[in-house]
Amino acid sequence: MPSTTPRPAPKASNGALAAARRIEKELVDTRRTIHARPELGFEEKETCKLVTQRLAGMGLKPRVIAGTGVTALIESKTPGKVLMLRADMDALPIVEETGLPFASKNPGKMHACGHDFHTSILLGTARLLVADPPAKGTIKFNFQPAEEGLHGATGMIDAGIMTKPAVDTAFGYHIWQGIPVGRVGVVSGPAMAAVDKFTITIHGVGGHAAYPHQTVDPVVIASQVVTALQSISSRSINPLDSVVVTVASIHGGTAFNIIPPSVEMRGTVRSFSKSVRKEVPKRMAAIVKQLSSAMGGRGELNYVNEDPALVNDPKLAEFFRGVVRDVVGPKALIDAEPSMGGEDMAFYQEKVPGCYIFVGSSPKGTMYPHHHPKFNPDEGVLPIATAVMTEAARRWLAAN
Ligand code: NI
Repeated sequence: MPSTTPRPAPKASNGALAAARRIEKELVDTRRTIHARPELGFEEKETCKLVTQRLAGMGLKPRVIAGTGVTALIESKTPGKVLMLRADMDALPIVEETGLPFASKNPGKMHACGHDFHTSILLGTARLLVADPPAKGTIKFNFQPAEEGLHGATGMIDAGIMTKPAVDTAFGYHIWQGIPVGRVGVVSGPAMAAVDKFTITIHGVGGHAAYPHQTVDPVVIASQVVTALQSISSRSINPLDSVVVTVASIHGGTAFNIIPPSVEMRGTVRSFSKSVRKEVPKRMAAIVKQLSSAMGGRGELNYVNEDPALVNDPKLAEFFRGVVRDVVGPKALIDAEPSMGGEDMAFYQEKVPGCYIFVGSSPKGTMYPHHHPKFNPDEGVLPIATAVMTEAARRWLAAN
C-alpha cells in the first residue's frame, strides 16, 4: 500500500454511548421516579431504598452508610486501582412549578438541582459496568446524601467511604444548565469555589428614633460595614484572583420610630485560592470591629469555612477531554469556566486526585437555572453523562 494513502480516521469509541442509549428508557424512568419523590438532605430514605434495590438487582452488594448513603463495589479478579464514582441524591426546599406529570409529590420539596438525574446516571453507569466490567481494578460507587449545604460528603468520609478498599481517584459530575445538551464542559484546576459563610452582629444602643444622639445606631454602622466590605474584592485582593463577598441578609429593627439595639447580617464568601480564603476573614474582622468601634458600637464576626474549593487534577481533566471527544464527539467538548458555586465533591478531591465534569443539560427554548422552581433540564443529558462516566471508568482502570 503506497504510503500516501490516507489512513481511515480513528473511529470514535462511541460503543458506550450506544450502550447508554439502549438503556435510555430506564434512565428516564428512574430519573422521573426519583423526581416525583424528592427528599431533603439526610432524609433520602426512599431514594436510598430505590438505589439499594436497583444495585442488588444488578447482582451487586450495596451497603447503606452515613444514614442514607449507599455504596457498592465492582471488583475485578485482576487487582488494580480503586476508582470512586460519586452522585448526590438530595433535593431542595422549593415548591415545584414545572407542572410536569412527574412533578414533586412531596409538598415544598423539589429536585431543582438535578440530583435526580445524577442518581439515575450513576445507576445507569453501574448497569453498564456490571454488564461489561473493567478488566482490572475496583469501582466503588458513592451515592451520597445531603450535598446541599449539609456536608453529606464529610458524612460519607467519616463513615469510611475513602477506605477499605482505599480510593485512589474520584470522578463526579453535575448536569449543567449553563451548557447546551449534547456538550460537556471540563475545567482544569480550580473548578468550583470554596464556600464560607458568616454572621456579623453590630451592637449599638437602642432608643427613640427622634433622639439619635442618645443612641448608638447599629443600622447606620451596618450600612457602613456593608459598603466597606466591598473594598475587600476591589482593594485588598489581587484583581487576578477571584473572590465574592456577599451580604445576603440584614435584620434589625421593629418599628419606624425605634432605633434597635443591634443588627444582624449574614452572607457568604467564595474564593479559589487558599491564600485568598485566609486573607478575606482577616480583612472582614478588621472592618467589622474597627468601623463599629469608631462609631461607638461593637461589631462581631462569626466566620465559618464550609466546602473547600473543588480542584480538578489537570492530567485527569485532560483524560476526560479525550473521553468526551471519543464518546460524544470532537465538537461536544467545551472548555468550561470555573464556577463561584460550591460543591462538596471537593472534600473527596482534597484527599485524592479527581475530576468533576459539567454535562450540558440546557434545553432548546426557555432555560430555567439550577434551584429555580421551573428547573427542567433536557433528559437527553442522561445517556450522554452515563456513557461518559462508564467509558471514563473503564479507560482509567485499564490504564492505571
Ligand atoms: Ni447540585
